[in-house]
Amino acid sequence: MDKIKINDVDLAYARRGKGTPLVLLHGFPLDHHLWDDVSSLLEDKFELILPDLRGFGESTTVNAPYSMDDYASDIAGLLDQLGIQKAVIVGHSMGGYVALAFAKLYPDRVSGLALISSQVIADPPDRKEGRYKSAVDVAEKGIGGVVEAMTSKFTSDVRLQAAARVIMEKQKPDAYIGALKAMAERTDSTSLLSTFKFPVVVVHGEADALIPVARAREVKAALPDSYYVELKDTGHVPMLETAKETADALRHLA
Ligand code: MLT
Repeated sequence: MDKIKINDVDLAYARRGKGTPLVLLHGFPLDHHLWDDVSSLLEDKFELILPDLRGFGESTTVNAPYSMDDYASDIAGLLDQLGIQKAVIVGHSMGGYVALAFAKLYPDRVSGLALISSQVIADPPDRKEGRYKSAVDVAEKGIGGVVEAMTSKFTSDVRLQAAARVIMEKQKPDAYIGALKAMAERTDSTSLLSTFKFPVVVVHGEADALIPVARAREVKAALPDSYYVELKDTGHVPMLETAKETADALRHLA
């Protein structure tokens, strides 16, 4: 992976393929390896940029708190340094929150947007409180509790649970804490949707145990022209569970 300095972070990223620039933003608490299967299906059509969000993977972090806007600013800085003015921004789950922040801050730099297993609403108070409790738990006892709680919610496929777990267990506690706080404080993006002037793809698993499919249906209702794919027997990680269908949906943004 290459690294560049942005906002006091050494941001690590992979770059592969040729075509329309497309940024793949991983969810929590993962890194760019989440996209390994999907990226190999897309690199004939897209120039893929695969960052590790600040703190995750090989990227360094800064002291929390930071926000979804800060993650988005890192991505804008990365694109600047790569000489890319406009790109398709694809976000999985928390990566979707970053994609939405990017679209709010840099609408002219978005040529298309995809939300995979994500949502546009903010956290209700109990969820927000739960995030802060998890952040304290990680600071005091390490990441084990969060990893344990999330593994079975990602997917019902035990082989893929193990694959996701390998990625989760590699992440630094500070990345968990920073992301939990940033997710808790994220704002509602519902009103942003009507400002979009680019094509949108929404992909969601019907059996998502972390973000219910109802959240994706709300986005579809607000953006009737979006390309919408609801995947049967698929949980929170369609890029692992149904990689081909996920890649096919993203091809609509070439
Ligand atoms: C994720 O997969 O990125 C998180 O589960 C998102 C969330 O907790 O809201």
